[in-house]
Amino acid sequence: MECTVPPPDRLRRPLVIPYKYMMSAGPTNASARVLHALSNPIIGPLHKEAYEVLDDIKAGLQYVFQTKNEMTFAMCGSGTLGTEASIVNLYEPGDTVLVACNGIWSERAADIAERLGANVHTIETTHGKTFTLKEIEDALEKYKPQIFFIVQAESTTGVFQDVQHIGPLCHKYNCLLIVDAVVGVGGVPIFVDKWDIDVAFAGSQKALGGPTGLAPITFGPRAVKKMMNRKTKVHSFYMDALEFAKNWKSLGPEVPRGYHYTLSMNLLFALREALAEIVEEGLENRWKRHHETAERVRAGVHKLGLELFPHEGETPLNCVTTVRTKPGIDWRKLRHYAMDVYKMDLPGGFGKTAKQVHRIGLMGSNANPYTADFTLEVLKDAIEHCKISE
Ligand SMILES: Cc1ncc(COP(=O)(O)O)c(C=O)c1O
Repeated sequence: MECTVPPPDRLRRPLVIPYKYMMSAGPTNASARVLHALSNPIIGPLHKEAYEVLDDIKAGLQYVFQTKNEMTFAMCGSGTLGTEASIVNLYEPGDTVLVACNGIWSERAADIAERLGANVHTIETTHGKTFTLKEIEDALEKYKPQIFFIVQAESTTGVFQDVQHIGPLCHKYNCLLIVDAVVGVGGVPIFVDKWDIDVAFAGSQKALGGPTGLAPITFGPRAVKKMMNRKTKVHSFYMDALEFAKNWKSLGPEVPRGYHYTLSMNLLFALREALAEIVEEGLENRWKRHHETAERVRAGVHKLGLELFPHEGETPLNCVTTVRTKPGIDWRKLRHYAMDVYKMDLPGGFGKTAKQVHRIGLMGSNANPYTADFTLEVLKDAIEHCKISE
């Protein structure tokens, strides 16, 4: 038998990936230790060495989420999988889902809930602003949702939503709280247990400093109770958290480990190392480092005559700084200039902030004064080169 489709010549070329300075809203540059971990030997997800790694990761994630939740693990997929998995596991037909919309990630959550057939309601605020407890309570009272979804670290607008007191409020109205902490975990504080958050999820490639492709997630006791008492099967086999939990021995000591699907062990090795780095540094030190780096960047952009995007009185996010685009500067050209000349990824906005902002992400190992100053130098040079001539 002869093949009719010939081997593609393009695959005879060597693979060359240049180093880039990833000052985007993620992925961020990973440390040499994390990258090295990716090249460990392939092992099976049911081997004893794999179990050791899963246990290490669970402990590390409990630390970064500040929780004792046994249902804490890394699902296989990007941050969006966290959004989808959190909703799909809590949602039962007939449920109402309330979403606090102030950027693209919450809009996505509303879309996901709508696709499931949920009654979806949203509360909205201007991009660059966050929600007050009063606005949230009014909506909980009005719509009586079973699930409330909110983003802690909005990476397209650069605002930080305080989620400390929302859990108890939701519980007063018999509602479960989901927090999208994709960009925040590892860079800004989150206390899942203390703040009574029912589900929170992160992105491996953001402030955690790991590889792309894993969605750390944690389910609290109220969420687990609802999942255990479901009347219907979870709409997705792959994302069914109680099935997935068997891999991670998260269902109690009496439930044996089991296979759900083949875990991406090499990604998990790298996440394990990223978490080990966080343990060695200490979370408080890491939050401080992200804060100090962001303060340095904010002072630097002011010096360049630029304005921050978050509204007056809002807390700017420490992981991603958003700067308003300025008339007289071709922002698309600026982005290309930074990439072509410096191999630096300096993205613009996304969703409704597309032409309005410019973003500087300094997370994980990139959150340090030298990288902040280098980024500001590149920005300064790019602004000079991208002025629109009158
Ligand atoms: C707050 C937030 N939520 C969700 C996502 C989606 O993550 P991913 O692109 O890894 O699917 C992102 C991505 O930047 C994000 O910033």
